[in-house]
Parts: sequence; C-alpha cells; structure tokens
Amino acid sequence: MKFFVDTAEIDEIKDMADSGLLDGVTTNPSLIAKSGRNFKDVILEICDIVDGPVSAEVASTDYETMRKEGLEIAKWAENIAVKVPLTEAGLKVCKELSDQGTMVNVTLCFSASQAILAAKAGATFISPFVGRLDDISQDGLGLISDICRIYDNYPDFHTEVLVASIRNPLHIVEAAKMGAHVMTAPPKVIKQLYKHPLTESGLAAFVDDWAKTGQSIL
Ligand code: G3P
Repeated sequence: MKFFVDTAEIDEIKDMADSGLLDGVTTNPSLIAKSGRNFKDVILEICDIVDGPVSAEVASTDYETMRKEGLEIAKWAENIAVKVPLTEAGLKVCKELSDQGTMVNVTLCFSASQAILAAKAGATFISPFVGRLDDISQDGLGLISDICRIYDNYPDFHTEVLVASIRNPLHIVEAAKMGAHVMTAPPKVIKQLYKHPLTESGLAAFVDDWAKTGQSIL
C-alpha cells in the first residue's frame, strides 16, 4: 500500500518524508486555505521535497475553466497529479489530461457508480472519502471494498484506489486488507499507526532493566 500524506504544511511533509514512508502528497482547496499560502508556491515546494505524485486541485467547476486550470497545473512539475471533482465536467477534463499523459486524481467520490465512471475516464487515482461517509452513518469502508472488487473484475481499468478522508488507523488497516492501492491521511493519523500500549510498556521495562546492568553499548 502506498502512503500519501494529506496536508499542505511543508514542515509536516518534510517530517513524513524523513520517515522514509512517504510515497506522495494530496492537497485540496481547504488545506491550501488553512496553510494561508500561495497555491502555486506551496505545490512547487512540495514537488521539490517528494518524488511521488503530488495532487493539486482545480478550483473551477465549469468545464472550460477547469480544463484551462488543469492544463496550467499540469505544467508546474513532472510529479503533479491534477485533482478534479467527480462531476461530468471533471471527468471530461480527466479524460483529456489522462490522454495527454498527465496523472489525474478524481476526488469527492462517494459511490461505486462514480468510481466506475472515473476508471472509464482514465483516472490515475480515484479518491473515495471514507470518513465523510462514516460521518453521515454510511459505510465508508464498504465503499472501498466494492470499488476494489469492481476494479479487480476489469484488467483494462488501471485506476488506483486512493482511500481518502481517513480518520483513524483502522480505516488504513481495513483498506489494506481489501487491497486498496493507496491511502492518504493527515500526519496525526499516520503517527497513530506506530502506537501500541504494549510497545510502550515493554520498552519502559527494557530501559529500566538495562539501567540495572550498569552497561553501555557505546
Ligand atoms: O483530500 C481529501 C480528503 O482526504 C479530505 O478529508 O478529513 O476533509 O474529510 P476530510
């Protein structure tokens, strides 16, 4: 499973990159607004830090403007994945950008039918939002399972399932069991993956016992 981090904060991205776990970055207009920085500046900085795909989202909803924005963003760096919404206009832009060799991440996916359309439009990634479905009492992980099963039926679908809107480590583990290709999560959730109370108590006991030996390795 590839690990992407869902943030526009440069320090967080550098920290994750240093861990050696980072395969890519996703951003969205809300994360850019939260950063308080210029969109292009942030994206170019991220693309310098990370070799893998960096998702940068269009801002318009009408086809003509979205197309122009997508073509513009695609020029910014080799590892850009243009992010478009799952709308008719978005999928039209997706098809065009994919055909010219640009990576496209289709976002705001909430149903299997939408995911089928994205694959047919040649999307590099489909981003189903697990947490936002759970938030309205629908089964976010059930959607991931459905999409993985459907895509597996069609070898000519090359779209990767990018699990988004992740709220907790269980979302990641369950999606990995289903064979989802990629997950994107906020740094806080990725850090939670390391944690286990038995690791912490076990380590504390080892440190105490080692001190009793009076030895030093270095
Ligand atoms: O970037 C898309 C997605 O990961 C958003 O997550 O937490 O705003 O639902 P969230």
